[in-house]
Amino acid sequence: EKGTYPHYMLKEVDEQPAVMRKIIMEYQNEDGDIKLDSSIREAISESDRLYIIACGTSYHAGLVGKQMLEKIAEVPTEVHIASEFSYNMPLLSKNPLFIFISQSGETADSRSVLVHIKKLGHRSLTLTNVGGSTLSREADHTLLLHAGPEIAVASTKAYTAQIAVLSLLAVDTAKAKGITLGFDPIQELSLAAQAMEVLVDQKDIMENIARDYLAVTRNCFFIGRGVDYYVCLEAALKLKEISYIQAEGFAGGELKHGTIALIEEGTPVIAIATQAHVNGSIRSNLKEVASRGAHTCIISMDGLNDASDQIVLPEVHEYLTPLVSVVPMQLLAYYAALHRGCDVDKPRNLAKSVTVE
Ligand code: F6R
Repeated sequence: EKGTYPHYMLKEVDEQPAVMRKIIMEYQNEDGDIKLDSSIREAISESDRLYIIACGTSYHAGLVGKQMLEKIAEVPTEVHIASEFSYNMPLLSKNPLFIFISQSGETADSRSVLVHIKKLGHRSLTLTNVGGSTLSREADHTLLLHAGPEIAVASTKAYTAQIAVLSLLAVDTAKAKGITLGFDPIQELSLAAQAMEVLVDQKDIMENIARDYLAVTRNCFFIGRGVDYYVCLEAALKLKEISYIQAEGFAGGELKHGTIALIEEGTPVIAIATQAHVNGSIRSNLKEVASRGAHTCIISMDGLNDASDQIVLPEVHEYLTPLVSVVPMQLLAYYAALHRGCDVDKPRNLAKSVTVE
């Protein structure tokens, strides 16, 4: 039930802090530590490489997950679009473990990969929001997202739940390998939940930007580097699917290799800059586009205001910034769609779960 909310999407965006807390509760043991099923630990420790398989928004969460699994747990990880994997299979390692990420657990493209790798005798783990779904039943292991039903076609809380659960998977794997973390994962996830809460309470900032710069634009670009780039891909998808604005997310360094030709007077360019080591470069990218007439917006934690618009994110751990930076992106997409008179919860041509290949 969407209660007093005008749309499910807005309700689901607002639910994200509570979903983070629910995930902490579900995956915490009596000692207050993260504890995943020991069979999942074993499956990961027996594998020499992880292959994440997903589509759309879940694929974007997988990209963030790869970074956490490699940087926190030092496990080599690849991420593949399910429909590509099927006919363009990479050379597999000796002992691969396949991780399927799917809100619905019913996505046909992902399932066809699962069927195929099972025939090859490989092991699998599904991260899904729906217990008892096809991908959950057919995989060897399941981790539930605990996001509650997601009704809006555009995925929001499932994406952040996927990233949160992937972070716990990375942390649990690191612990099993004896890697010292240097941070308290539960504490950091709670802080991220608090940060999300701050942002969902600042809807007017995103609504104003959307009304002023996205309500009539033809296109919009999102730029970022490293993990911010992955969030840009998700930001562009969200904007495209519900507001029908032609949107593209790309790596800041790629601007000069072609895309900058598209910048005209007033083109909105939104940058995410949450990573200290690349923030300088992304800021110079913004200057380049601003000097060519772009309307710029920066989403950052350092509060330096060097764009036309600014969204300030509360500080969170460097691995968890996507949980926080995506929230203004979801809200920008929401308000852009609203101001353009689009059907936010049921965008044209789309279905909630894609059960055909
Ligand atoms: C976008 C969106 C889709 C899904 C994709 C995979 O907002 O919802 O891109 O993420 O169709 O769906 P699941 O996660 O159910 O496999």
